[in-house]
Amino acid sequence: MDSSSIQAYSASARVGAYDADMDLMHPNRHKMADVIVAVLAASERQPEVVVDLGTGTGFLLERILRRFPSCRAIAMDGSGEMIAMAQSRLGSLAGRVEFRIGDFRELGALAAVVNCADAVLSGYALHHLNLQEKARTLGQCRTLLKPGGWFLNADLVIADDDFLESLVQRMRVEGIVDRAQGGDPRFGDREETRRFLDELERKECDQPQRLAEDLRIMQACGFRHVTLFWKDTREVVYGAIR
Ligand SMILES: C[S@@+](CC[C@H](N)C(=O)[O-])C[C@H]1O[C@@H](n2cnc3c(N)ncnc32)[C@H](O)[C@@H]1O
Repeated sequence: MDSSSIQAYSASARVGAYDADMDLMHPNRHKMADVIVAVLAASERQPEVVVDLGTGTGFLLERILRRFPSCRAIAMDGSGEMIAMAQSRLGSLAGRVEFRIGDFRELGALAAVVNCADAVLSGYALHHLNLQEKARTLGQCRTLLKPGGWFLNADLVIADDDFLESLVQRMRVEGIVDRAQGGDPRFGDREETRRFLDELERKECDQPQRLAEDLRIMQACGFRHVTLFWKDTREVVYGAIR
């Protein structure tokens, strides 16, 4: 099993710069967390137990724990370094979190919670899996959930054809160069930015799928009410109910 996506997030340079880089490369992540929180807040049952896959520095988890004060969480990540960042971000909120270090492709072994989560969440993590791994992982997510529980994923997708994908990638690069405003040598111009992104994606084993494939996998796993809640070019929030 290829673990490059975990190893990449154990490198101190990547971990230390992670949150600042996310704001530069993925400013939509604030909106995406808002959407996940809003879906849970509008649901009949407020979440008491959530599982966060690929919790990273705890960005999404913090939002959940603040909005739902009686909610506890199981936070999983393959990188102990990222988990340490999450613990420091969460401070006293970490008292409501069980941290588990391990590969979420082996969810059964990692999460000894079956049928008891109100929601399984993930932010920018499942695009590290290939289609088969993602299908198997989503099937395991379903078994962690109570009937009626939500699977919600904020993540990346590729466009439906090569023409659209090139367009979206040019929009992505343009956005990063604009936001960097010449203050970051990695993003000085379009060419440097493209080279940096290509290398990052190769190292981290990024393999986002088409949205239709992700939605189809959820249907195939037996989830109900499979839906897209939000989309902006290559970033999406989708979900479904067990
Ligand atoms: C891009 S970060 C996302 C972090 C956070 N959820 C966020 O929204 O900012 C991806 C995280 O997934 C973790 N990860 C990647 N592949 C993994 C795997 N197979 N098992 C467990 N964690 C994994 C990485 O260690 C990293 O912390």
